[in-house]
Amino acid sequence: MRKKPGVFTWLLWIALAGCCVAVAALAPGTIDAYNAYTVERDATPTPTALTQSVLMVTLDPNNTPTPTPLILSLGTTGDAVTRLQTKLKELGFYTNAVDGQYGQGTAAAVKLFQSQMGLTADGLAGTATLSALYATTAQTYIPTPTPSPTPSLLSKGAQGGSVSALQERLKALGYYTGAVDGDYGAATQEAVRLFQSQNGLEVDGVSGSVTLAAVYASSAPPVTITPTPDPATLPLLVNRDNPLAESYKPANLVVLRNVLPASLVYVKGSDIQGDREAVAALQTMLLAAKDDGITSWQVSAGYRSYQYQQELFDQQVATFVSQGKSRADALSATRLTVADPGTSEHQTGLAFDITVADTIFKGTKQQLWLDKNCWDYGFIVRYQEDKEKITGYVAECWHIRYVGISHSTVIRDHDWCLEEYINAMKQ
Ligand code: DAL
Ligand code: ZN
Repeated sequence: MRKKPGVFTWLLWIALAGCCVAVAALAPGTIDAYNAYTVERDATPTPTALTQSVLMVTLDPNNTPTPTPLILSLGTTGDAVTRLQTKLKELGFYTNAVDGQYGQGTAAAVKLFQSQMGLTADGLAGTATLSALYATTAQTYIPTPTPSPTPSLLSKGAQGGSVSALQERLKALGYYTGAVDGDYGAATQEAVRLFQSQNGLEVDGVSGSVTLAAVYASSAPPVTITPTPDPATLPLLVNRDNPLAESYKPANLVVLRNVLPASLVYVKGSDIQGDREAVAALQTMLLAAKDDGITSWQVSAGYRSYQYQQELFDQQVATFVSQGKSRADALSATRLTVADPGTSEHQTGLAFDITVADTIFKGTKQQLWLDKNCWDYGFIVRYQEDKEKITGYVAECWHIRYVGISHSTVIRDHDWCLEEYINAMKQ
């Protein structure tokens, strides 16, 4: 990509212009292409307030929508779970991250809520639980008074009511998954060890006075599960070697302007779509950014059909040719910033270009926030500077890809790009 003098300068311009489609200020011809793109986007009318308010109901946790008539349980993911966690958190039952993933922490919070509301405490959020949760009568969390644990030491082999109480408590917090049988066996011991290790206590599996006090404290946190990525559910990898079929269209596309409040983000085109779950995660992330005082976001691209990607690609090639490049050179230069049709992540509906309107994105406080925090919401910054040789693209600090939080956090912790992660997981 840096074969000839001059090309490097152009590429810098591409990166700085903050647009994934490489329609930045490379040369007069490119400015035309960029203007055409902008005109196309801006020509679309702003939806009426009525349209927005009706459609926003889907994802707005404050709108107390009719509960979704399905059972949410361990392993469920998506915006119904995000809404559930948000509500449980608001009421004080849930203290972990709102990540749209129904793990042990969420199950423990549901159980706490159920037992306080006199419902069957099974940790499954079915119709009765969801109705109670979204009802105006839903109570906030009242911590159980700390019982004085007697005897003050329980260990493997112990039996009786105090052991049952301990098992019950550990189960409610998500550390114990076995039967409440009053028998301090290996599973109870393991649960105690897990509790101890997650709460900074000496890890010996013995419930002495310090452990018991911590277990029964009203502030005892629910278990934190470090998800082990399942190779069978790895994120979809789309690149030159792994193209999508021309006919591939994601199943659950939603129009961003219909679900994302205009106060949260400016969506540049009224037709921009994205995968439903990815858009919900985007909303959760932008709300968190807002809490941190970071606002004024713009989404300039989401789902692109194969045909639209073809148009963008052809436009860029034509621009280079009009500037005097041979067709072969124009193709290679284009391929550094625009994916060939079928090989763009935008065709998955899981990628977004997120920027700040009329500003060079790189170096803005929004870009720095995104770079640091998107991983906690299931997104990765897909094309990084130090991975250009692997991804094949000049870095794009604005292109984020939804992979789900169990993957994004591992990718961040290893400083991998998606190709490296998929490879590592397949070993
Ligand atoms: N700009 C990215 C690589 C795309 O076209 O998908
Ligand atoms: Zn992009």
